[in-house]
Amino acid sequence: MSTTLMVALDVDSLAEAVAVVDRLGDEVSWYKVGKQLFTRLGPAVVQGLKERGKKVFLDMKYHDIPNTVGQAVRSAAAIGADLCNVHASGGPAMLRVAAEAGRETGLTVVAVTVLTSMDAAELSAVGIAVTPAEQVLRLATLTRDCGLPGVVCSAQEIGLIRDACGSDFLLVVPGIRPAGAGKGDQKRVMTPSEAAQAGAQYIVVGRPILAAADPAAAARAINAELRG
Ligand code: C5P
Repeated sequence: MSTTLMVALDVDSLAEAVAVVDRLGDEVSWYKVGKQLFTRLGPAVVQGLKERGKKVFLDMKYHDIPNTVGQAVRSAAAIGADLCNVHASGGPAMLRVAAEAGRETGLTVVAVTVLTSMDAAELSAVGIAVTPAEQVLRLATLTRDCGLPGVVCSAQEIGLIRDACGSDFLLVVPGIRPAGAGKGDQKRVMTPSEAAQAGAQYIVVGRPILAAADPAAAARAINAELRG
């Protein structure tokens, strides 16, 4: 299985986004557009990426009533996203509607299990009295059972989810740090090659590329590591 690099376009303006994409050139074909950039720029940023021949992961983490999420997935497809996501904790009815919207539009929809910022105490505060790992497993299998093709997960959870959901299940993995890179606020990190060996189809990398003195060289090094 090959592992593809996605760059998290965590910047504030179209000018900065375009500068990153132009600098990275052919080294990177997938970009993750999250709430920070999309809230400012809307579909224009997706359009700009598509015009440059790039693939777009629209990271909106939809979590709402089933009808609203289904229509949001259709909107994501309509503006040209190639991948989008929902919160698995929205429940089975919502996940099934998201899966149906994905099948209808050809957009790949994956689910977020437990945010990596949540630990057992955070889960307990919202009434979930199991460990994060147990909850991740529960939501990953629910996601699969509702017809969605994969999840966003931390590198530490790859093995657990792979075992439960099989080798075809799509795993999109942030929290990646090349050996020697600063962790920032990420705690449970893996290197690109570790994530590839563990079986991630996609890794999401932000600051190790965006904040590098030479972003293209940083992306090239990660790609070389992924090819192994
Ligand atoms: O800069 P860094 O490589 O940490 O960026 C990782 C990206 O992945 C950010 O956009 C972050 O919001 C996102 N993400 C994450 N952990 C998750 C889900 C998404 O770090 N569980």
